[in-house]
Amino acid sequence: MQTNSSLLPDKHGPRLYGRSSGHALSARQARLVAELLPRLGLPEKISARSDLAPEGVPLWLEIGFGAAEHLLQQAKANPGVRLIGVEPYLNGVAKALSGIDAQKLDTIRIVRGDARELVARLPDASLDRVFILHPDPWPKKRHWKRRIIQRDFVADLARVLKPGGRLRFASDIAHYQAWALQHILDDSRFEWTAERADDWRMPPSDHFTTRYEQKARKAGRACAWLDFVRAH
Ligand SMILES: C[S@@+](CC[C@H](N)C(=O)[O-])C[C@H]1O[C@@H](n2cnc3c(N)ncnc32)[C@H](O)[C@@H]1O
Repeated sequence: MQTNSSLLPDKHGPRLYGRSSGHALSARQARLVAELLPRLGLPEKISARSDLAPEGVPLWLEIGFGAAEHLLQQAKANPGVRLIGVEPYLNGVAKALSGIDAQKLDTIRIVRGDARELVARLPDASLDRVFILHPDPWPKKRHWKRRIIQRDFVADLARVLKPGGRLRFASDIAHYQAWALQHILDDSRFEWTAERADDWRMPPSDHFTTRYEQKARKAGRACAWLDFVRAH
């Protein structure tokens, strides 16, 4: 059962995402949303990590996977890992389902909805890795409160990551890069792993780029990839 994709402001704070669907789905995509999505969702009640992945199998989460390019490639490159992708945008969810179906991937679960609601439902220390790649930047000051990186959400990410678990944040917006660095390091459980500038200026060796990221770089916006470890 997938989580409810509430599109309204809720107890977690202001709505974070703009539109939740765009152009009409193809017949195949509509069928996948109707038939495959319910099979790939999470249990309604998550009591323990074992409801999500078998003992000893790493569990990764990608937040706001967009068109799912990174999610699908990580799944292909890491067949021994279970992945959860969460995304409110229906067309993105449909792209993920298309890729999962076409490539016969059986390690990905998809949740259509708000990552804050999902993370709030996860057990403590259940995740090995979290990716937040190019979250909506909300550049205007009056909209900064809509950014997904906020103190309470960072605390919840630290709670659901195992000690030693890793968080990757990427953005092409300089202000959001600095914002994320500050908000994440404000939580003493996180340590930034960069040792030299190229560790955050260059794409990490295990990164897969997306069309969004390529467009940003073509437009001359420098990306930063900030890798953190939940140290304790
Ligand atoms: C700028 S796009 C980047 C997509 C993708 N990560 C990439 O790098 O190509 C930001 C994505 O975050 C999603 N998003 C926005 N608010 C979200 C939320 N509360 N939970 C999960 N995803 C969210 C949007 O729907 C959108 O697909």
